Amino acid sequence: MARIRLPRSSALFKEALWNQQRHLRQMTTPELRKEFTEFFVKDHGHVAVKSSSLIPHNDKSLMFTNAGMVQFKEYFRNPAVAPFKQATSIQKCMRAGGKHNDLDNVGYTPRHHTFFEMLGNFSFGQYSKAAAIQMAWRFLTEVIQLPKDRLRVTVLASDQESYDLWKNQEGIPEEKIIRCDEKDNFWTMGEGAGPCGPCTEIFWDTQNDDLGEDRWLEIWNLVFMQHYRNDQGQLENLPIVCVDTGMGLERLASVIQSKENNYETDVFGPLFEGLHKNMTDSGIESSRDINATPHKKIIVDHLRAMSFLIADGVIPSNVGRGYVLRRIIRRALRSGNQLGFTKPFMADLYGYLLESFKDGSYPELTERQDSIKGVIHQEEEIFMSTLSKGLALLEPVFKQKDLADSKQVPAEIAFKLYDTFGFPLDLTVLIAEERGWSVDLAKVEELKQKQQEQGRASWKATSSLVHAKAAEWKEQGVFPTFTGYHRENLTGQSSTVLASQSTDDGTGDMILSIEPCPFYGLGGGQSPDTGFVRLANGSEWKVVDVFSPYERGLAIRIQPASMEQESVTEEDLLCLHKGFQLTAFVDTKRREGVAAHHSATHMLNAALRKTLGKPIMQAGSLVEPDRLRFDFTHGKPISQNQIHEIENWINTTALQSVQPVIQEYPLQKAIDMGSIAVFSEKYGDVVRVVDFPKVSMELCGGTHVEDLSKIYPFKILSEGSVAAGTRRIEAAVGKSASQFLIEQDRMVTRLNQDLKAYATSAGNGLDLKVNKIKDQVADLSKQYSRLLEKMVKSPAAAPVQKGALRGLEADAVPVQIHELDGEILDQDYFSKKANFLKEQEPNAVHILIWKENMMVALVQKQFPTLHAGKVLKAVLEKAGGGKGGGQAQVARGKLSNGEEGLRKLIQLSTQSSSSSST
Ligand code: SER
Repeated sequence: MARIRLPRSSALFKEALWNQQRHLRQMTTPELRKEFTEFFVKDHGHVAVKSSSLIPHNDKSLMFTNAGMVQFKEYFRNPAVAPFKQATSIQKCMRAGGKHNDLDNVGYTPRHHTFFEMLGNFSFGQYSKAAAIQMAWRFLTEVIQLPKDRLRVTVLASDQESYDLWKNQEGIPEEKIIRCDEKDNFWTMGEGAGPCGPCTEIFWDTQNDDLGEDRWLEIWNLVFMQHYRNDQGQLENLPIVCVDTGMGLERLASVIQSKENNYETDVFGPLFEGLHKNMTDSGIESSRDINATPHKKIIVDHLRAMSFLIADGVIPSNVGRGYVLRRIIRRALRSGNQLGFTKPFMADLYGYLLESFKDGSYPELTERQDSIKGVIHQEEEIFMSTLSKGLALLEPVFKQKDLADSKQVPAEIAFKLYDTFGFPLDLTVLIAEERGWSVDLAKVEELKQKQQEQGRASWKATSSLVHAKAAEWKEQGVFPTFTGYHRENLTGQSSTVLASQSTDDGTGDMILSIEPCPFYGLGGGQSPDTGFVRLANGSEWKVVDVFSPYERGLAIRIQPASMEQESVTEEDLLCLHKGFQLTAFVDTKRREGVAAHHSATHMLNAALRKTLGKPIMQAGSLVEPDRLRFDFTHGKPISQNQIHEIENWINTTALQSVQPVIQEYPLQKAIDMGSIAVFSEKYGDVVRVVDFPKVSMELCGGTHVEDLSKIYPFKILSEGSVAAGTRRIEAAVGKSASQFLIEQDRMVTRLNQDLKAYATSAGNGLDLKVNKIKDQVADLSKQYSRLLEKMVKSPAAAPVQKGALRGLEADAVPVQIHELDGEILDQDYFSKKANFLKEQEPNAVHILIWKENMMVALVQKQFPTLHAGKVLKAVLEKAGGGKGGGQAQVARGKLSNGEEGLRKLIQLSTQSSSSSST
C-alpha cells in the first residue's frame, strides 16, 4: 500500500512533529556548542583548542580547512610533538574547493553547506577506541538525551574490536550495528598523503520512510587513526592509535530541534529574518517560505562562507582561494538578482550574521566587521559593472552564425571573461546553459594552465625544489636563531654550520643553516638579506638568498664569491660541514634600504586607513632596498588629492623623527592594543609588535629603521589596479625617492627649455604651455576631422579603372579600382572612403589601393553570393601575389609587388571587361 505523506501544514503533521519533539531535549546551537565543549573539558579532561583558520597553514595540499583534524595533522604521525594528549575543538570548515566541494549542491539539498562548524574530540595516543565510543554514546544519549532507540551505528567489517565495543554499550541491539566495507568506513584525507584509519559512524533515525536510505542521517564520525598513507599511497602503521571525531553542528541542531532541514534551525534563523526584511524594504514581494526557491538558502549559506573567509584574510581574486571566494560572492549576488534585488544587498545582511553568532564564538566576526563588510560591498559593486561588461562580450557570441550549429561558447571568450573581467567560469556556464549553449571547459582549463606556466619564472621553479630540500632539515631538528634584528650582529658574527647540502639544480650553489643566523629571510613581504660568509679556510661565499623552509627554520643559499673560484674545492666543502665555524656578513647598506622601505610600508598602511576612511585589507606587499609595493582592497582609483594627502602626512610624520618601540606581546593583548594584523597570517601565541607611537602599530617580524626620519622623503611612484577590487601603490623613500625627484626635476627643466615655457605672473610656465598645447591639439584634430570628411567625399576620387572581373562566383562582376592619395596615412580614412564609395555606387565591387595596401569593399545586398575576403584573395592571386583576408563586406590585404601589381590589376579588369562598364 502506498504511503500517504501528510501535508506539512496539516494539523496531523504538526501533532506528529510535536510528539517527536516532546521526547527531545530542547536546545539551541549556542547551548550545543557549550555542552559539547564542557563535556569533553570538564568531564573528560580535554584541552579546548580554538578553531584554526580556514586557510590551512600547516598543509599546502589543502585549499581550505575541511575537518577538525587538519590543525592536528602532524600530531597523529608524531604524538610526541603534540602539546596536549587530548583536545576538543569546534572547527570552522569550508567545503567549496579542492576535493571536498559541495558548492554546486548548496540550496538544492537539505544539508549541504559551503561553510559549517565541526564539533570534535581528539586523542594523540591517550585513549582507546573503547573510551572514544563510550564518550560519544554518553554525550548523545545522556547529555543531549537523544533516544537510544533512534540511533544506529556502522563499523568497518574487519574492525571486530569496534563491533564488540558497540555490542557492549547499553541500548544498542546487535541488529543496529552494521558492518560496512572500506568505501564507507575507512577514512582518509583525500587522495594525498595523510593519517587515516577505520571509522565508526553514528546515525540518527529521522523516521521518515519516504527518504529511503536517507532516512538514516549520519551525525558523528569517529575515526581511529592507525595508519599514515605516504606519498606513494602505501599504508604505514602509526606508532600508536589516535582518535579523531567529527560531528556537523548544523546537522546536530536539525536533529535536536526536529527540523527536516538544516536551514530551518536557529543557525540560520536571523539570516532569513534579515533577508526577508531586506526584500520587503526593497519592494520585493516574497513569502516567508525558505524552501520555495534555492536562492534564499544560497544567499544565507554563502554569506556565512564569504564572511568567515574574509575574516581569515582571503581576498577576492582570480586565482586559488581568492577565486573560490569570488565565485561564492557572485553566486550569492546572482541569486539575489534572481530574487529581484537590483542594488547591493549582501553587506547589509552582515548585522544579522553577527546576530546569529551572538554567543561570541567567533570574535573575529565582530573585530573585523568593517573590513569584511567593506570587501563584500566592494565586490558587489564590481560585480554589477563586471556583469554588464561581460554580458556585452558574451551576448554577441550567441548571435554568431558560425557558432549556431555547435552552440558552444569559444574557450577564448570564456577565458577572457574569466581573466580580464574576473567573470567566474560557472557564471558563464550558467548563462550559456540558460540559452541551451555550452562552454568548452577543458579548453579553458588548458588556456589557464598555459598562462600559469608562462608566468612561472624558472628561478621560482628551481627555488621551490631547493626549498623542499631544505625542508627536510626539520626532521633533523634544525632550528637556528635569527639574530639579525640587532645592528651589532650584522657584520662579523661567528656562527656554526647546523646543516648543509648541495642545491643539485645545476648551479653548484649550496644551502646551509647556521646558528646563529643574522641573515633575514622570514618573509612578510620583506626581501631577503644578501651578504657573504667567510669559511674556516678563509674562502668567501656570497649569500644570494635566504628563506624559511618551515616554521622556525632559516636557510641561506650561497655561491662562491669570485669568478676565479669557479669550481668548489674539497676544502671548501669540508668547511661547510655540520659543526664548522664561519663568519657572517650582512650587506648592511642594502639592509638599511630595505628597513627604510619596510617602515614606510607601515606608514603607507596607516595613511591609507586615514585617507580612505575605512579599514582596507592588505593584499600583499614587497619591500626591497630601493622601492616598496603595497596591494590592498579598494574598489576605485586613489585621486591625485588623496595621493598628495598621503605623501604629505607621511613626510610630515617622518620629519618628527618618531622612533619605534619593538616588543613582544601575547597575541590577544597585541590585538587589544590596536595592532594592525594581516588576517591571512598565522600568528603564534606571542607576537612581535612594531609600534611607531601614535602613528602606526603592526604585528610584524621584519626589520625597521631606528628613526622615521630615514624614510624622508616619501614619494608615491605609481597607483593602479592589479585585479578587480585590488589596488597597488609603488613608492620609494630616502635616496631612491630623492633620485626619482631629481630626475623629475631634470625632466621639467628639459621640457621648459624644449617648449620655451617660462614662468609668468599668470603662473607656472609649463602648466600654461601644456594647456595651450592641449587647446591647439584639440583645435587641430577638429580641423583634421573636417578635412578628412571633405577628402572622403571629394570628387577627385574618380576610379582609375572601371571594368569587370571574371572567374569569381558571379559571372562578370562590375568593379571600380580607386587609387588613393598617397599622402593619407590613416586607416580610418581608408575605411571611410570605402563606405563613401559604396554609397555612391552600390552596384560595383570597389577595390581601393593605397601604396601596397588594398581593400575590397562591397554591398552584401547587391552581391549576395560574393564574399569580400574571397574576392580579395582571388584578385591578389591574379594580380601577382600578396596576402590578406576579411569579412563578407570588407577585406584588407597587401599587394606584394606595389606599382606592378596595380598595373596588372588594371589590366586584368580591362581584359576581363566585356560589354559592361558601370
Ligand atoms: N576527520 C573526520 C571527518 O572529517 C572526522 O573528524 O569526518
